[in-house]
Amino acid sequence: MKKTVFYLAAAFVISACNHNPETETLADDNSTTNVAARRSCPSEELRAEMLKNDAAARERFINIEAGVQNFIATGKVLSDGTVDIPVVVNVLYRTSAENISDARIAEQIAVLNADFGGTNTDASKIPTEFSTVKAGDTKVRFHLIKTVRKSTTKTKWGTNDAMKKASTGGIDATSPANYFNLWVVGNMGGILGYATFPESAGLWNDGVVIAAPYFGKTGATSPYNLGRTATHEVGHYLNLRHIWGDAACGNDLVADTPTQTGANYGKPTYPLYNTCSGTSRSVMFMNYMDYVDDASMFMFSAGQKARAQAVLTSSGARSGLRIY
Ligand code: ARG
Ligand code: ZN
Ligand code: CA
Repeated sequence: MKKTVFYLAAAFVISACNHNPETETLADDNSTTNVAARRSCPSEELRAEMLKNDAAARERFINIEAGVQNFIATGKVLSDGTVDIPVVVNVLYRTSAENISDARIAEQIAVLNADFGGTNTDASKIPTEFSTVKAGDTKVRFHLIKTVRKSTTKTKWGTNDAMKKASTGGIDATSPANYFNLWVVGNMGGILGYATFPESAGLWNDGVVIAAPYFGKTGATSPYNLGRTATHEVGHYLNLRHIWGDAACGNDLVADTPTQTGANYGKPTYPLYNTCSGTSRSVMFMNYMDYVDDASMFMFSAGQKARAQAVLTSSGARSGLRIY
C-alpha cells in the first residue's frame, strides 16, 4: 500500500515536470481579450517548479499524498464535523474599482460556503448520472477574520508571489499556518487566479491570489462573475487537482471523476463524450476543477470531498486551520 502510494506520488512529480504544450501556450497567453475563450491556471506549473527545486517540499508532497490515500482507504469522516476555515483577505489596489468593498468580500465568502456546502442553487443542474457521486456538503466552511488593504502603483502582477511580501510591494501573509490567506490584486493579465497546494502549508507564500475583476459577484467581469475562481483555487489549496489531471486523459487522483481528454472551456452541454483508454463516456465538465465559465461549474465530487477533508483532519497537512 505504502509503496503504491509512493510510486503514484512519484509518478505525478515526474509527469508534472513534463512539458505540456497546451498549458504552456495558455500560461504564456497574457492577453485579456481572449480570456473568455481559454483559461489558464498556473498552480500546477508553479508547483512542479517548486517540487523540482526543493527536496524537502517533494518529501512533504509525497507524505501528504500517502496520508490522503490512507484517509480515503479507511473512509473516516472528520472527527469534529465541519471545519470552519478562518480567512484573511489581503487587498492590493491601485484604482477604487480594485479596492473591492467589504460587501463584495462577504459575497465571495458566501459563494465559497455555498459551493463547499453543496447549497449553491445551480446544484439542481447536476446531471442524474453524476448526482450519485456529488459531494453535497464537503463539511468545509469559511469565515472572514480580517481584511488588510494597501494601495499600490503597480498596474500588473505576475505569478511570482510579489503580492505576498511587503518587501516586494505586497502584503505579508497573516499566520499562514493558521489562516487561509487570500490576496486580491488588480490585474494578472489572462490569469484569473492561482493557488498553493498543501505542501506549501504555513509557508510565507501559502494561499490563493485572485484578480479583482473575478472576485465576488457584484461588479465582477462576465463570464467569471459568480465567484467561482475562488472556489476553483481553494480546491487546489485543499489538494484538488484539475479534473483532467493536467495531461491528455490524465489522472486527478479522484476515482469518481471520469477521465477527460483535456480541459473544457466556455459553456459545454451535457452529455459531452470523451474517449480515454478506449472508453467513451460523458465527462464531468461542470466540476469546479475544470476551466468552464462560472455559470457552467456547480459541483465537487465525493472523491474530491474526501481529498479535501483528508488534509483538514487533525493529522492532515492543513490541520493548522482547525482553530475557531
Ligand atoms: N486559475 C484559473 C485561471 O486563471 C482559474 C479558472 C477558474 N475558472 C472559472 N470559471 N472561474 O483561469
Ligand atoms: Zn487551477
Ligand atoms: Ca478521475
